[in-house]
Amino acid sequence: MQKHRIIIDTDPGQDDAVAILLALASPEDIDVLGLTIVAGNVPLLATAKNARMICELAGKPETKVFAGCDRPIGRPLVTAEHVHGKTGLDGPDLPDPVMPLQEQHAVEFIIETLRAEPAGSITLCALGPLTNIATAIQKAPDILSNIRELVLMGGAYFEVGNIPPAAEFNIYVDPQAADIVFKSGIPIVVMPLDVTHKALVTKPRNDAFRALGTKVGIAVAQMTDFFERFDKAKYGSAGAPLHDPCVTAYLLKPELFSGRLINVEVETSSELTMGMTVADWWRVTQRPPNATFIGDLDADGFFDLLTDRLGRL
Ligand code: BDR
Ligand code: CA
Repeated sequence: MQKHRIIIDTDPGQDDAVAILLALASPEDIDVLGLTIVAGNVPLLATAKNARMICELAGKPETKVFAGCDRPIGRPLVTAEHVHGKTGLDGPDLPDPVMPLQEQHAVEFIIETLRAEPAGSITLCALGPLTNIATAIQKAPDILSNIRELVLMGGAYFEVGNIPPAAEFNIYVDPQAADIVFKSGIPIVVMPLDVTHKALVTKPRNDAFRALGTKVGIAVAQMTDFFERFDKAKYGSAGAPLHDPCVTAYLLKPELFSGRLINVEVETSSELTMGMTVADWWRVTQRPPNATFIGDLDADGFFDLLTDRLGRL
């Protein structure tokens, strides 16, 4: 497998944390050039702090972390403390980070990196609202041809919505940004709720994380213990859905996932369905395909990969 060189755009978040840990645990497959932070699950100050706590938990304080946009492009910020807790990373008791934030703005880092590296060599991984990525595209459209692929967690078709009834959180928070991204023409792989709701941390899977006996294994078990309550209460799920780790797992083992290359458009004007991803799963329109929309995964294979890799940290 060719090594992936990636930028992770994120709003941690317990599931973002697990996605980042998985990437940092896989240096032979993934080179993390930087984490670019966005406001989402909680405001920017907290997501930027959480990202550094995660890097230190992984024993990788040299990872570059850049703070980015503190609000969506055209709407007030909506956050999800009711899912992720007051800090956004409730569950484990992690120390405050000592590693610094980089001085450069996340959007500038994305633009500069894509311009500096050979075309088609950098993959973007998006785990939160798409504000930083869309802003980079707006400011520097020349970077589009340099992006190898964007793998993002967001949207839903069969599962419809998780925070509002008709939309998934990341797309709902910044629908304008999502619209810019889906219309950009770059190769996109989407991990919607349709697949992430199948990546559930059941009790035996949580026990397997804890049984690693490491700081990382125990912290991940505590994170999923905490944020499972939202999905258990709402959907009657067997545990917490690991939304964002689907993105980094896809880079490591794409064969665990299956989906369709289809057209996906984002609702940006109706308040009722704001942020809805209108996915032409059944190919009933002539609209051109613009994204590989994932629908299923091998959940046992996914958790085996995750537990094995987290055990290396
Ligand atoms: C997405 O929203 C956030 O709550 C999670 O971190 C994930 O990225 C799921 O809708
Ligand atoms: Ca997230």
